[in-house]
Amino acid sequence: MKTKITELFEIEHPIIQGGMHFVGFAELAAAVSNAGGLGIITGLTLGTPEKLAKEIARCHEMTDKPFGVNLTFLPSLTPPDYPGMVKAIIDGGVKIVETAGRNPEQVLPALKAAGVKVIHKCTSVRHSLKAQSIGCDAVSVDGFECGGHPGEDDVPNFILLPRAAEELKIPFVASGGMADGRSLVAALAFGADGINMGTRFIATKEAPVHQRVKEALVAASELDTRLIMRPLRNTERVMRNPTVDRLLEKEKALGANLQFSDIIEEVAGVYPKIMLEGDMEAGAWSCGMVAGLIHDIPTCKALIDRIMAEAESIIRRRLVGIVGA
Ligand SMILES: Cc1cc2nc3c(=O)[nH]c(=O)nc-3n(C[C@H](O)[C@H](O)[C@H](O)COP(=O)(O)O)c2cc1C
Repeated sequence: MKTKITELFEIEHPIIQGGMHFVGFAELAAAVSNAGGLGIITGLTLGTPEKLAKEIARCHEMTDKPFGVNLTFLPSLTPPDYPGMVKAIIDGGVKIVETAGRNPEQVLPALKAAGVKVIHKCTSVRHSLKAQSIGCDAVSVDGFECGGHPGEDDVPNFILLPRAAEELKIPFVASGGMADGRSLVAALAFGADGINMGTRFIATKEAPVHQRVKEALVAASELDTRLIMRPLRNTERVMRNPTVDRLLEKEKALGANLQFSDIIEEVAGVYPKIMLEGDMEAGAWSCGMVAGLIHDIPTCKALIDRIMAEAESIIRRRLVGIVGA
């Protein structure tokens, strides 16, 4: 399958693995890229330019295919060394960066000067247009279904993707709720040039997370996510567990008086405990509604091959069959 996204990133299949905190290590990025998709290392998980440089070198050892690095901009009192990370990316020979969170304007000049392609992830048409206007090469349009931060507009992909197609000139991928060949064909029908998946890639053999995390995704249904931190306008879609229920009780009790410090125990520093140690009640972890479509733990190659085969079959048999050859 050839789309503007496969051509832009020089990859075989229009499938991207979005950056994921404490999931997007070199093992997963390399497995996705080796399978013909675009794997992405999550910069902030590494924390420093030196550690990121080492992770990039490790990924180069595991794949000779293109892979990217995610740079997420979060509000922080002590921001990470973003310029140092950009230097590690450029020096490491990485040619694709996925940005997310705030507007990536601060890193664009250096990345563009080094010939790095930038795909910005955003949750609204207006932010997508902003990304286009400042020179991003593509956008990843993240609908309300997505795991992680869906923004505050709550527009699901059935509306958001065709709206993005109406307005954007640069290519975009559909993100949020993508799991299989049906998702890919639907995304293409809406005008996207590929898909970005987060949650689905956690339940793969190569994802370097505890087996209990993968099993939790297989066991979960589409009803098992919750939105937290809405009163702080930092909404996150997470897997429901007793800790999340406790957090939501606090949100309800405190109402408009809620401060981040009230829920810090449930959200801060919990990722290593959950992802690496499999302590499933340590806190809130991002998870998409797409959990309801995850029924197995394949290799990345088996997953991507299956998505491509299913998409082709839907297009060639079902759709052509409906309209007539
Ligand atoms: C566990 C987890 C951690 C994530 N961490 C990040 C992150 O650090 N930066 C980022 O830009 N997106 C992050 N995301 C969002 C994903 O990159 C992707 O946009 C999202 O998962 C797409 O929705 P889906 O889960 O329905 O596929 C995370 C998602 C998950 C599930």
